Amino acid sequence: MPDTHSAATPAIPRRALVTGAAGFIGSHLAQTLAQAGTTVIGVDRRDPTRDQTAATNLAPLHGLPGYLHITADLLNCAIDPLLFDADAIFHLAGIPGVRPSWGPQFSEYVNANILATQRLMDAATRMRVPRLVVASSSSVYGPTNGGPSTEGDHPRPASPYAVTKLAEEQLCLAHASRADCSTSVVALRYFTVYGPRQRPDMFTHRALHAALTGQPLRLYGDGHQRRDFTYIDDIVTATISAARAPIDTGIVNVGGGSNASLLDVISIAKSLAGREIHIHTDGTRNGDVLTTRADPRRARSVLGWQPTVDLTAGMRAQMDAMTRPAHQSAA
Ligand code: NAD
Ligand code: UGA
Repeated sequence: MPDTHSAATPAIPRRALVTGAAGFIGSHLAQTLAQAGTTVIGVDRRDPTRDQTAATNLAPLHGLPGYLHITADLLNCAIDPLLFDADAIFHLAGIPGVRPSWGPQFSEYVNANILATQRLMDAATRMRVPRLVVASSSSVYGPTNGGPSTEGDHPRPASPYAVTKLAEEQLCLAHASRADCSTSVVALRYFTVYGPRQRPDMFTHRALHAALTGQPLRLYGDGHQRRDFTYIDDIVTATISAARAPIDTGIVNVGGGSNASLLDVISIAKSLAGREIHIHTDGTRNGDVLTTRADPRRARSVLGWQPTVDLTAGMRAQMDAMTRPAHQSAA
């Protein structure tokens, strides 16, 4: 099992703001930073006294010295005070689902992923925060021929969500290019992240849940979709490294460069849980690409990053976290 949160971490910021800190990736990042000695302010609009997922994600952060959590919406809260003396912002707040972005919910994606980001970049500029790391997405590449996606590839986002993520990263980079902005931006294109606390709408969680409970798994398409699955601890390491990357770093893929199919994930989940999975096949979903695969060379050269956790070990850690009693869920 991967040794969660004890892997060698790169040089850390002294004081940082983590947005989306009650979410899957944000809570892990905030925890690792605070445990390593960074003074962290975490902000999220989900209220952990009313939202069980936020409460569960934030539980390991309770009582960590140097961690302060604030429930606030970046669309309307006063952001400047959160940035006082910060040397880095990790911007993970956003609405992340690919398939629900069609239809009336699109305005929420625009609000969270674009308008809130605009407010944050304005505040970062005013407060002269030297670095902002923004969570972008492999989905900006859209359909590929199966080969690795390189940061210089022409983006062809295939879902409304992906369009907002492309707008978000480009908006941050546009602000950073202003003569009066001293905030440099690193945009990380994360590839399908999994591990403990993964969002319950995501496939790895659903496959493990089906294997553990015997409830059916809904499979969109034939299961031959492939993803460059990236383990949460590896994502956190890359993200922290990005705070110290050279000023002109720009866009970096965070994915290992290989991929696995949904059928592979199902087979690993079955063997880890020792139980069959009942599959309900459904139609393919609009905006869902067949394959993602990162070209990892920039991450290696600019961030000194490479993944350390393979899919079976990572899924075992995720399953262990799903079966652990809530009061023991430090991972
Ligand atoms: P998540 O939903 O678990 O976390 C996002 C958090 O942002 C939530 O807790 C939400 O309440 C918060 N948030 C949204 N809008 C906000 C606002 N206006 N003000 C304050 N808080 C707000 O999602 P996640 O999987 O942890 O993803 C985090 C980020 O990484 C997202 O930007 C997502 O697009 C990006 N990303 C995720 C993946 C992945 O595989 N999980 C891959 C690529 C990119
Ligand atoms: C994931 C994250 O959810 C996005 O936030 C992120 O931006 C994106 O990765 C990324 O890499 O940038 P996705 O790859 O669609 O998006 O991940 P899942 O939601 O886990 O879906 C993976 C595959 O499983 C998709 O083909 C989907 O259709 C399928 N799926 C998902 C099912 O067959 N059944 C389900 O119940 C859920």
